[in-house]
Amino acid sequence: MAGAEDHWDAVYTGRAPEALTWFEEVPEVSLALIRSYGAKDAPIIDVGGGASHLPDALLAEGFEAVTVLDLSPAALELSKTRLGAAASRVRWVAGDVTRWVPDRAYGLWHDRAVFHFLTDPAGQDAYVDVMRRAVTPGGHAIIASFAEDGPERCSNLPVQRYSPEALAARLQRAAPGVFAPLEAQRLVHVTPMGRRQAFQVSVFARSAAD
Ligand SMILES: C[S@@+](CC[C@H](N)C(=O)[O-])C[C@H]1O[C@@H](n2cnc3c(N)ncnc32)[C@H](O)[C@@H]1O
Repeated sequence: MAGAEDHWDAVYTGRAPEALTWFEEVPEVSLALIRSYGAKDAPIIDVGGGASHLPDALLAEGFEAVTVLDLSPAALELSKTRLGAAASRVRWVAGDVTRWVPDRAYGLWHDRAVFHFLTDPAGQDAYVDVMRRAVTPGGHAIIASFAEDGPERCSNLPVQRYSPEALAARLQRAAPGVFAPLEAQRLVHVTPMGRRQAFQVSVFARSAAD
C-alpha cells in the first residue's frame, strides 16, 4: 500500500490539519460514545486516527491506554508535535489497518471515516478480520462512515457509503456472529468550508464467539 501511504502523507503535508474536510476541534460524538463504552484503564485504539484531536481529549479525560494507528507517518507526526510531552503517553502505530497484526487485546476500537475508504471486498474482509482479532470478547467497536446519502468521494478517493443496517450486514458477512449492532446514529459533519456531510455512527458489541 505504498501508493496509499504516499497519498495520505501528501494530504497531511499539503494543507494545515485544520483545513482538512474531516477536521474537528473536539470530536464530541466519538468522545460521548467512548465514555459510554470504553473503560479508563482498558486499551483503546483509534484506527486511521490521522491527526485527530481524539487522543488529546482521551488523555485529558483520564483514558490510560490509547493507541493511534494510521497509514500516514506524517499525520502521526502532526499529532505528536501538537501533544508535545503528552505524546509519550500514547502508542503510535504507522501501518495499514488491513495488514496490521494486533499486538494486544483492545476493549474499544474506534474508526472515524476510515473503513469507508475500503471499496474492495477483500480489503473490507481483511479489516473486519483484524478488528475481530484486535477487539477482546465483550469489547466494542465504533465505526463512523459516510451515510448512504453522504459524499461519494473524500480526499479524491471513492468511498463506500453505508446505512447502519448495511454496515452491520457487511460485518456479519465477513465475521458471522462476531459483531452485534447495539446502537446507531446519524450525524451531519460541517467541514471547515461549511459543507455538510452525512455520517452514520454505529456501535457493535464483540461477542465471545469467534
Ligand atoms: C478522512 S481521514 C480521518 C482521520 C481521523 N479518523 C479523523 O477523524 O480525523 C482518513 C484517515 O484514514 C487513514 N487511512 C486510510 N486508509 C488507511 C488504512 N488502510 N490503514 C490505516 N489508516 C488508513 C488516512 O491516513 C487518514 O488519516
